Amino acid sequence: MKIPSTGMAPEAIMATLRSFKSHDMDWQSGRVFAYVYQPDETTATVVKDAYTLYLSENCLDPTTFPSTAKLESDVVRMVAGLMQGDEHVVGNVTSGGTESILLAVKTARDWARVHRPHITQPEMVLACTAHAAFHKAGHYLGVRPVIVEFDPATFAADVAAMRAAITENTILLVASAPCYSQGVVDPVPAIAELAREHGALCHVDACVGGIYLAFLRASGDPVPPFDFSVPGVTSLSVDMHKYGYSAKGASVVLYRDRDLRRYQIFASTDTTGYTLINPTALSSRSAGPIAGAWAILHHLGESGYREIVATVQAATRRLIDGINALDDLYVLGRPVMSMFSFASNAINVFQLADVLRRRGWYLQPQFSKSRAPRNLHVSVTYGVAHNVDALLADLADCVEEVRRMPPIDPQFVRSVVDTLVENPSPEVVAGLLTAVGMQPGVLPQEMALINEILDALPDAVANAIIIEFFNNLS
Ligand SMILES: Cc1ncc(COP(=O)(O)O)c(C=O)c1O
Repeated sequence: MKIPSTGMAPEAIMATLRSFKSHDMDWQSGRVFAYVYQPDETTATVVKDAYTLYLSENCLDPTTFPSTAKLESDVVRMVAGLMQGDEHVVGNVTSGGTESILLAVKTARDWARVHRPHITQPEMVLACTAHAAFHKAGHYLGVRPVIVEFDPATFAADVAAMRAAITENTILLVASAPCYSQGVVDPVPAIAELAREHGALCHVDACVGGIYLAFLRASGDPVPPFDFSVPGVTSLSVDMHKYGYSAKGASVVLYRDRDLRRYQIFASTDTTGYTLINPTALSSRSAGPIAGAWAILHHLGESGYREIVATVQAATRRLIDGINALDDLYVLGRPVMSMFSFASNAINVFQLADVLRRRGWYLQPQFSKSRAPRNLHVSVTYGVAHNVDALLADLADCVEEVRRMPPIDPQFVRSVVDTLVENPSPEVVAGLLTAVGMQPGVLPQEMALINEILDALPDAVANAIIIEFFNNLS
């Protein structure tokens, strides 16, 4: 593709952009149970209008755009309040959960360089249910993730295993509230206490759950303690662009006090250029996502969020009960809020995901891991809550359909896995992708066989293959 020699009319551009979406899943149908957090139409319009109003303002320089600093500070204070933080709690708005987590890990690393100078190879301890953003942070920042098990009944992090994993090099303990994969809240008070005992920091990843759990608690539902009310919790990440229903590009990272947040900030007067001062990872950043977050917090208010949470929580309970009532499916662990996953001892859930997808439903396949069987993840949001009965009906039909399907040939899978483990070179990967029906540069729709193979591979080989595939995609 080349830039057109003369410009296109706005209507033609919009029509073309709309046409590009024709092969995407139609999330507006309320059948995509992941990725999109959709409020009602009026609220969505408020967010869009606020976002576009601030599209061009740059948070890079609050002296030029003081309103961006006000918006950020307001959003941080509102979210800090929800997390039961006192006036000492400080934070920033970032582009998303991953950036908030990267910053929390960088802050812990740089805090330890000053306060634990004997540590040259820092480590963080987390359960394997914690989000991959911590693995990425470890990879980027040179902090080794030490992974421990979870309780096989509840799927909560195993605190005894965390205790056993602590070494002289431990700088950070991680708890999820909840973990994305199974929607289970870790025992935050026990983990934070463990961190205190060992002079380490404790980050609570409330990216997906922070806003939701705060309003669930406000409605009187039992919510385990997870926020700054727990002594020993030193930082928290809370995404506005998930159950805050704001536009993507808005998360909040919070610290117990300024003494800790100091290690997050970067400044440089070292060049011929302007003075650079970056509290977050990005430098130039649109104020649009922050304005969107500010707008939705004000538009919905506490009562609006409480209503949404009540609707979504009721729909989730119906869905969980309905899935557990189906013969061949069962929900994993003890999910607290609106996200959970289910597995099967009788049918292949990867095939089930494909069959559901043909009917317009998207549930997210997740691989087996130590004590977790392969499973499908479900995030119930306001935009899909009205569809849970329709999903349950189709789910029962689709389970029957998978039961009648030929199983994936285990010998073929074994041979592909053996070949890849022996030689995961780009040439071998390219050959095998063709053998499993994938064309270079084309994203697959039917995923069961590919998931089956990836699930059977050691993580390092699977990761290398996915990187290879993406590297060749564009
Ligand atoms: C618990 C948790 N942490 C971190 C993240 C990463 O957030 P993002 O995709 O906004 O970078 C997610 C994403 O779903 C999450 O659920």
